[in-house]
Amino acid sequence: MTKPVLKAIYKRRSVREYTDDPVKIEDLREIVKAGSWAPSGLNNQPWRFVLVTDTETRSQLAEQTRYGHVIKGAPALIAVFLDTKDMYNEVKDHQASGACIQNMLLAAEEMGLGAVWLGEILNRKDQVNRIIEVSDDYDLMAIVAVGHPTGRNRDSKRKELNSLIIKEILEDS
Ligand SMILES: Cc1cc2nc3c(=O)[nH]c(=O)nc-3n(C[C@H](O)[C@H](O)[C@H](O)COP(=O)(O)O)c2cc1C
Repeated sequence: MTKPVLKAIYKRRSVREYTDDPVKIEDLREIVKAGSWAPSGLNNQPWRFVLVTDTETRSQLAEQTRYGHVIKGAPALIAVFLDTKDMYNEVKDHQASGACIQNMLLAAEEMGLGAVWLGEILNRKDQVNRIIEVSDDYDLMAIVAVGHPTGRNRDSKRKELNSLIIKEILEDS
């Protein structure tokens, strides 16, 4: 397939197992940059990020979620926040953070890295802010775990397209 964006969309899978190889800080920053180029309402760009590779911090974060094994095994984490002091619309700023996170997952895919969007940890978002020492003005949206994929567990499926399209209202041809 010559269309690289479509290729990345269809090839990307959540990756939860990683080799021990570290992720370069430049690569993490490139992923965050891709996130920052997502669309946002009024170009508000409400997203903020914390990049983590420190082992002690990762193990403390791992204790906050039942997906701790993923966090522990991932050499790098990107915590994605909304800056509640820089929001203009509750729904649209949250939508923008989703677009940002998806951009990051696709960037990781294209860079040959594996990533997964971790949301269950939001149940302990206050503790996460404490651990990484950011103010509660920052509202946790997700932690994206990043690493070099081991190459396993990449199956996924989707509902039939026809079951998702409610109707098509088309011009007569
Ligand atoms: C909002 C959201 C929250 C998610 N939370 C978790 C999570 O806490 N743990 C996890 O392993 N995967 C999590 N995922 C990843 C989904 O399980 C995954 O995207 C879905 O099963 C489809 O698989 P795929 O990404 O490989 O296509 C989350 C995804 C989204 C969009």
